Amino acid sequence: MIAGSWIRRMFDEGAILRQRYGDDKVFDLSLGNPIMEPPPEFHQELRRLVENPLPGMHRYMPNAGYPETRAVVADYLSMETGIKFTAGDIVMTCGAAGALNVVLKTLLDPGEEVIVFAPYFVEYLNYVDNHGGVSQVVPTDEQFMPRLDVLEESINQKTKAVIINSPNNPTGVVYSDDVLHNMGEVLRKKEAQYGTEIFLLSDEPYRKIIYDGLEYPSPLHHHPRVIVLTSHSKDLALPGERIGYLAVHPEYSQREELIDGCIYCNRTLGYVNAPALMQNVVRTLQNVTVSVADYQRKRDFLYTHLIEMGYSLNKPQGAFYMFPRTPIEDDVAFVKELQQWLVLAVPGQGFGAPGYIRLSYCVDDRTLEGALDGLGRAIKKFK
Ligand SMILES: Cc1ncc(COP(=O)(O)O)c(C=O)c1O
Repeated sequence: MIAGSWIRRMFDEGAILRQRYGDDKVFDLSLGNPIMEPPPEFHQELRRLVENPLPGMHRYMPNAGYPETRAVVADYLSMETGIKFTAGDIVMTCGAAGALNVVLKTLLDPGEEVIVFAPYFVEYLNYVDNHGGVSQVVPTDEQFMPRLDVLEESINQKTKAVIINSPNNPTGVVYSDDVLHNMGEVLRKKEAQYGTEIFLLSDEPYRKIIYDGLEYPSPLHHHPRVIVLTSHSKDLALPGERIGYLAVHPEYSQREELIDGCIYCNRTLGYVNAPALMQNVVRTLQNVTVSVADYQRKRDFLYTHLIEMGYSLNKPQGAFYMFPRTPIEDDVAFVKELQQWLVLAVPGQGFGAPGYIRLSYCVDDRTLEGALDGLGRAIKKFK
């Protein structure tokens, strides 16, 4: 709880500052809870369903989800990737978090290892631990791309999976096709060396939030043991509705057994099935996304100002976070300095990367604009 509580701690400290100074005086860039409302199509579909309920639409269903929804998701993934998915490759889940837990429960024997790249989404460590696994943290390079040499050295007989997250929380980087290709080669080399299977778990809730016309490079093209884990928490702004899915690579030779395991674990972990109403709604919304242009505008605004102020950072290519270097080594001290100016950020050490802060720009323009003053004053103090 202590290791994973940075975001929570910022939330609590923010609440105290709000109480003292007033809501509109505090500029909170610490949370990944999108400010955007779901697109109008979501409300239309919800209204249509509520006014014309399908018979039995609130009952139990197969634990994998509605076959019609799984089929639509499979068609959409096939269209996106050019790889032929069918409904049998998909399990509807309670968000990407549910998908990750279901997959880790299905794959891991006690003591098996899962590689995560730092900076990481901190919950990965908890999810691996939930299912008896052991996390191995591997560093990334200056551009936050996985260090493949260290990856190779870190894989051993017990390595069962590698988790990747592109577009990335907290850095905003998108893994290139080249990196994914080389990663696939490393995995297969080590599989051959140890006579094991190593799964690439691709956590993709930000897949559709990608900028500058970039096309999403999918790991599905580079390894047959890829499992995609995703949700509509970010692309349809529905994090509270807990709707997502996992998809197993159709070319994985034992995918039927793996999918059966995932369906079983979806039930026995107590999720039972993904929310019925949401499965019916998102069936018709696979082509719909929140305004990516709006997020890109917010990214450009914050990035331009941070560079002008003298922050050192990579320009995010997707998701809605920035991960600037702190002007002093101690990121917690810098976060405290920002708090003096009523700006809330999360220290990089909460993501396994001290010396950085995470800023979320999925906030309204007033908050972004209001944060600039404090961000400027804080860096000035140490420059
Ligand atoms: C990288 C990453 N993975 C998974 C999740 C969990 O997503 P969901 O809310 O769909 O479970 C999040 C949520 O912020 C995330 O940032």
